[in-house]
Amino acid sequence: MSYRTHRLGELRKQNVGQSVKLSGWADTVRDHGGLLFIDLRDRYGTTQVVFNPEHKDAYELAQKVRSEFVISIEGAVKLRSQHVNKDLATGEIEVHATSLEILNKSVVPPFEVGSKDISESLKLKYRYITLRGEDAMLRMEKRAKMGQVIRNHLDKQSFLELETPILTKSTPEGARDFLVPSRLNENKFYALPQSPQIFKQLFMVAGIDRYYQIAKCFRDEDLRADRQPEFTQLDIELSFTNVEEVMTLGEDLLKNVAKELIDVDLGTLDRLTYDDAMDRYGSDKPDTRFGLKLVNLSDIAAKCSFKVFNDVVNKGGLVKGINVKGLAEQLSRKDIDDLTKDISKFGARGLAWIKVEESGLSSVIAKFFTEEELKAMADKMGAEPGDILFFVADSPKVVHDSLGNLRLILRDKFNLVEKGTFKALWVTDFPLLEWLPEEKRYKAMHHPFTSPSPSSPLDEKDLNKIKSLAYDLVLNGNEIAGGSIRIHDVDVQKQVFALLGIDSDAAEDKFGHLLGALRHGAPPHGGIAFGYDRTLAVLMEDDSIRDVIPFPKTQKGQCLVTDAPAAVVDLELMDLHVKNIKKANKE
Ligand code: AMO
Ligand code: AMP
Repeated sequence: MSYRTHRLGELRKQNVGQSVKLSGWADTVRDHGGLLFIDLRDRYGTTQVVFNPEHKDAYELAQKVRSEFVISIEGAVKLRSQHVNKDLATGEIEVHATSLEILNKSVVPPFEVGSKDISESLKLKYRYITLRGEDAMLRMEKRAKMGQVIRNHLDKQSFLELETPILTKSTPEGARDFLVPSRLNENKFYALPQSPQIFKQLFMVAGIDRYYQIAKCFRDEDLRADRQPEFTQLDIELSFTNVEEVMTLGEDLLKNVAKELIDVDLGTLDRLTYDDAMDRYGSDKPDTRFGLKLVNLSDIAAKCSFKVFNDVVNKGGLVKGINVKGLAEQLSRKDIDDLTKDISKFGARGLAWIKVEESGLSSVIAKFFTEEELKAMADKMGAEPGDILFFVADSPKVVHDSLGNLRLILRDKFNLVEKGTFKALWVTDFPLLEWLPEEKRYKAMHHPFTSPSPSSPLDEKDLNKIKSLAYDLVLNGNEIAGGSIRIHDVDVQKQVFALLGIDSDAAEDKFGHLLGALRHGAPPHGGIAFGYDRTLAVLMEDDSIRDVIPFPKTQKGQCLVTDAPAAVVDLELMDLHVKNIKKANKE
């Protein structure tokens, strides 16, 4: 017995007169007294089914159907006598049912399928209901299609799709590990991979010179809208390669995905060095779809009589500004106070401003500057009447974080970017190391296996100046991919570990498997990994990557469908040689 002759987005005028069998979910049931209408829904669309008292059994049973019942009907396709629905692919026809079978009932659903104003927790708890909605279903289809596009693209270029272990010793990517206790090996733990980084390098040592994988990665970090504890990467690695080749590969692939998924042509991607990105946009993942570039005013500020500014510059800090063109009128004192508060989160101690009016400059700080200084600043920022200039004086990090984020706040407040605008770019020449002031140590800016740039000697006195062969791919202000050329020389790898405070013994203990492989004929190699969820979310213009993940987790890392993480019984813990500290302390 077959359940259906057609899917529910399929029937058209040409099918009029045919007998069909359809199955799906009752989306809406409307009893017009005399005629009863059910909109029947499946993954492919909706078809209107009409029940007429002439077919008594079907008509009476139809009165028992409620939203989300699963039903199957047989009937004849007819032209709609009235109410042709132009918004619906099947809107010209309806099916006049001659029989009905209720395949399964449903309790009253927690919300109407497809409705928008549902709390996030309800949406996640009933993810299987959320997914029935058109928008969510579209995202699942695009997600699957993205995989197909990637596989076709990479298969053509002789990449092998291979898996790497999930129970492993982790690759430190800067986040905390998820640990799994071993029952068979007392007091030993596996870590879930933060990425397949070391294994893909081992593939290169093995001579598998072109590898890719759509890989699950696990990172126990504080979650944000663009981060999940369990996420997917498109992970790629190749041998005998260089920065240009990997960037071309990543660029072509992204362009292909954007074209196939959303029919957008990304054109040739711009490139910015890390230093330029920070200098002009205050961010290493700049959204370049709008202006509001940062202007460095430190030279003028150093000599001015506004103490706040010249103190900062004289202590090695920066003064930078942005010109918010033509929007002075639209920013009240209260708005400016709100913006000041917003950027205080990034450490800014204030937000100085000057409004440019026909009659001159208006600002509480204007009095601290000479006419010439004000003119020099205004000129450097291309100021014209109607503009408002904002300034932050602080350490480079605070200035860049604050103004970089102020750009994004203003983008959203004034809708500076039209929906449907896509811009991708490369950020290159990242520093090798990043200083962590609180921990008083360096960490790898990308990861510890990233090759220093040949133009940066490792014995450079100022470690901040060492550049690396790392690159990031940015789409609409989101870091969607990152990669690097790797270190393939064991001595260089040990030197880099040493810079990171990992001595020889610790290096062998933690990374012995990598160092061992590097000693066995490792070819030059490099690669890149795309955030699969992030790339898709940006292409779909979603605010959160949760929208494109089939079963995502909450901000606290919970799966509301299953209620994971959940408690386990003590016996299970005993098997794993694990003790519940809280309980043990009480005993
Ligand atoms: P990286 O750590 O930059 O590089 O990760 C690559 C890409 O993965 C995405 N991403 C995330 N997406 C969702 N949730 C998260 N918690 C999360 N963390 C990262 C981002 C990021 O650009 N092994 C290296 C890659 C390489 O060098 O080849 C790596 O994992 O989009
Ligand atoms: P104050 O003299 O502290 O009242 O500051 C005068 C103006 O300068 C106010 O608009 C402050 O927001 C601003 N301001 C104070 N500190 C800074 C700073 N570090 N960077 C930019 N503006 C600042």
